[in-house]
Amino acid sequence: MENSDSIVTPWEVRGEVDYKELIEKFGVDPLTPEIVERLRKHAGGLHVLLRRGMFFSHRELNEWIDSYEKGVKVVLYTGRGPSGNTHLGHLIPWLFTKYLQDAFKCDLYFQITDDEKFLFNPELSTEQVAEYAKENILDIIAVGFDPERTKIFTNLTYSKPLYNMAVRVAKHVTFSTAKATFGFSESSNIGMIFFPAMQAAPCFIHQYLTSEDVHVLIPCAIDQEPYWRISRDVAPKLGYRKPAGVYSKFIPGLGSGGKMSASLPDTAIFLSDTKEEAARKVKNAFTGGQPTIREQKEKGGNPDVCVVYSYLYSLFDEDDKAVAETYASCKAGGLICGECKERLARKVAEFLEEHRARRERAKGSVEKFLLRE
Ligand code: TYM
Repeated sequence: MENSDSIVTPWEVRGEVDYKELIEKFGVDPLTPEIVERLRKHAGGLHVLLRRGMFFSHRELNEWIDSYEKGVKVVLYTGRGPSGNTHLGHLIPWLFTKYLQDAFKCDLYFQITDDEKFLFNPELSTEQVAEYAKENILDIIAVGFDPERTKIFTNLTYSKPLYNMAVRVAKHVTFSTAKATFGFSESSNIGMIFFPAMQAAPCFIHQYLTSEDVHVLIPCAIDQEPYWRISRDVAPKLGYRKPAGVYSKFIPGLGSGGKMSASLPDTAIFLSDTKEEAARKVKNAFTGGQPTIREQKEKGGNPDVCVVYSYLYSLFDEDDKAVAETYASCKAGGLICGECKERLARKVAEFLEEHRARRERAKGSVEKFLLRE
């Protein structure tokens, strides 16, 4: 989607994103309190990403929950494009996917699009994407997915089933639709043009492998939604249910404006950052503070535009009372930016340390998770 101030595509997110406008442009539905309540009922609690509105929109999530309640088999599908190290933004949909897997006790198909990153990035070789895929997979396992129910695969190493499904999808998608949906041009290589069929394929891979009737739900950030439009159009033509989706906002970069992105490494917190690196990035973050401490005390800060506050709010401070106090105290001038940054840096350091320990343990269980031909 493109308007004068922002761009949201699977490959680029730029400017101030207006999520209300995006709901209309993409034709998705807002996540209402009623659906959130249905999730709470099944999960026995609300994930912080739901409570704080990071997950904000969906497609047919009600129908997916209906299927579960009626005893239709449900599965989850999400993914990662291995173009570099994992950052905090990538974790947002994965943490939520784990919450859903725990709640609905269902299988998860996790696609690694090594082909995508090779085809779309002139700088990357197949060897480099394979190396990133290996590293990313450890981060994915470290999230804590159920090893009995989680199937991770890369497009280049699990090609046969995926290609078989992708050709069936591709037959129903014209170049003109792909061009309009993804912005391809005459100079796009032909691999790029076929690729959307590879990302659509796992929507139907469970049916392909088992012939079972199944309802798929895709948790991801809203940038991936164009793929599901195509998948949903094709599904009935192949005799399958349309995949449902639940979509998150973007965690912003630490600078002013734009999503956290690996292409801006100083404003992204990578899971491989040391706590000193992470603390340095947080220290330089954009805040809603006044230019001087005196002015901050007199006029108060603006948490509504502050990236540091938004990290505490969206992910790092699960205590509703504490986060409300931070907001009020910042506005009233009782809190200076340095204190808030220190608090966030501490929470990030703790998180990274725990993640690293889980990642080390993950090294012993990769084979359990991988789907191979
Ligand atoms: P990738 O690797 O760019 O991103 C992985 C997941 O992270 C989400 N994401 C973010 N979420 C919140 N804040 C951010 N700043 C942020 N940046 C990225 C993405 O939406 C994505 O869910 N082509 C895909 C890989 C893929 C996939 C899928 C993703 C294949 N099949 C199914 C989701 C669902 C990609 O390159 O994602």
